[in-house]
Amino acid sequence: MTDFFLMYFREGNEPEETTQITYRELLVQVCRCSNVLQKQGIQKGDRVAIYMPMIPELVVAMLACARLGALHSIVFAGFSAESLCERILDSSCSLLITTDAFYRGEKLVNLKELADEALDKCREKGFQVRCCIVVKHLGRAELGTGDSPSQSPPIKRPCPDVQVSLVLKNKCHCTDRGVDLWWHELMQEAEDECEPEWCDAEDPLFILYTSGSTGKPKGVVHTVGGYMLYVATTFKYVFDFHAEDVFWCTADIGWITGHSYVTYGPLANGATSVLFEGIPTYPDVSRLWSIVDKYKVTKFYTAPTAIRLLMKFGDEPVTRHSRASLQVLGTVGEPINPEAWLWYHQVVGAQRCSIVDTFWQTETGGHMLTPLPGATPMKPGSATFPFFGVAPAILNESGEELEGEAEGYLVFKQPWPGIMRTVYGNHERFEATYFKKFPGYYVTGDGCRRDQDGYYWITGRIDDMLNVSGHLLSTAEVESALVEHEAIAEAAVVGHPHPVKGECLYCFVTLCDGYTFSPTLTEELKKQIREKIGPIATPDYIQNAPGLPKTRSGKIMRRVLRKIAQNDHDLGDTSTVADPTVICQLFNHRCLTIQ
Ligand code: WT7
Repeated sequence: MTDFFLMYFREGNEPEETTQITYRELLVQVCRCSNVLQKQGIQKGDRVAIYMPMIPELVVAMLACARLGALHSIVFAGFSAESLCERILDSSCSLLITTDAFYRGEKLVNLKELADEALDKCREKGFQVRCCIVVKHLGRAELGTGDSPSQSPPIKRPCPDVQVSLVLKNKCHCTDRGVDLWWHELMQEAEDECEPEWCDAEDPLFILYTSGSTGKPKGVVHTVGGYMLYVATTFKYVFDFHAEDVFWCTADIGWITGHSYVTYGPLANGATSVLFEGIPTYPDVSRLWSIVDKYKVTKFYTAPTAIRLLMKFGDEPVTRHSRASLQVLGTVGEPINPEAWLWYHQVVGAQRCSIVDTFWQTETGGHMLTPLPGATPMKPGSATFPFFGVAPAILNESGEELEGEAEGYLVFKQPWPGIMRTVYGNHERFEATYFKKFPGYYVTGDGCRRDQDGYYWITGRIDDMLNVSGHLLSTAEVESALVEHEAIAEAAVVGHPHPVKGECLYCFVTLCDGYTFSPTLTEELKKQIREKIGPIATPDYIQNAPGLPKTRSGKIMRRVLRKIAQNDHDLGDTSTVADPTVICQLFNHRCLTIQ
């Protein structure tokens, strides 16, 4: 066997920011952090909110919670203050761990400011976290390299003064916003050893929020035994893991893909992997492939939206790098169009790598439908067959199982170890969302086709959910953010095809009397959505809609709106539209606001 390491290769936003963290060093950091949390009163069963960029301290914080049997609730650092507040309140988190600020490519994100805003909002609603622990990341340069292995060398990009003073200013406010504490100060004082808390296999490991069709996010709960077993096993087989591999999943830990295949799956297998803080286009569009060569990555896992984005720049930024180490290329998050699949296979993988198109969900914990590399004959765009122990079925509207070639609702007939156990604090919602429509089955919410060879092809969501760049959003949450604006009486949001994002948001808004539709208004609406939900929910199109097509019972007909958005006059059956003149009016009003 060739030399192999047990570690994370950490690659920062800047290519020069690199560190290696061995398993031994990680263990010490995790123990110290567990001791820190324990000192702040965190016990088994408590909830800890984590709002951080992709830095080693994020992994340390989540594992420290796990060590104590406390539930981590990680909120993606691209979410707004309001979203963070909502999630802290929903599971009454005792403590928040965050970061001063960070760069995403060239964009500076003032994370602590957003965290403070969220904590202020929590307080307004009568809830106060015990304390807020802040990792000095952008301000790290001031600390020197330190002796902590998880600390990066000083960041080259200058840290603007406003950043540092911002965090210090908030420190002064500590008495009235709960206590802000510096991570590095607490970690320095903490002991290196910490006994793990013994947990039952069915004890909860973490909460991760995912969009729900009612608009209120659901706190998906995963367990210690089932989840970890499932991610460990899927990681091993789906990526054909071997000890000498270098694995790299580009997903942010703020999403389930990062939980399962940046943290728990690789670590449970003793894998060496890459932890990347940056983005695929910074400092240039060949960043991913330069990282592949730098660490000799063997197994690589990313999303169709990233592949489509990079495809636009042609083959040269890819072929400029050797990529000779690559063996398996994975994709996840949304259906991959055959064109992007072929580019991934032919250009990135130089036709020698297996592609694993993995279908799964936050709720499933790990892969459900996926090829096994080298063993499953591939078809571009198909997630192929179920993983071991997974029993899919395709149902028609009346809940009958369809055999052979068929298209309908994708469901699972029997549980698997990684299935979510409940919606945090709302078990009824768990039952209603996944098991009510077709009793006895787990309903994915996705449409699916099975071809004559038995291959499964995901056709996309069939509920009121949208998939923007692999991130699920509910139409209801975007609509409620829109109608909170004083000018908006009613709003309807539909998905619209987009060459890079897969789907983007197309919003129809009905104005209140006395308001006029203008670019200023659409800008305000976009800003409002960014503030309420986060930048990923920013609409590409906002259309003035004097009326909306509704059924006689008042239900908005999104099917018709999707067609109008695409200027497709083939509307199918419109006999149930209460006022058909609305449709004509909307076609005439297709004056689009393009982002
Ligand atoms: C939804 C789940 C699972 C991690 C990322 C998203 C869509 C996911 C695929 C795929 C077609 C896919 C589905 C699913 N999806 N992977 N390989 N092919 N569609 O997690 O936010 O819970 O979203 O993503 O629509 O239901 P999520």
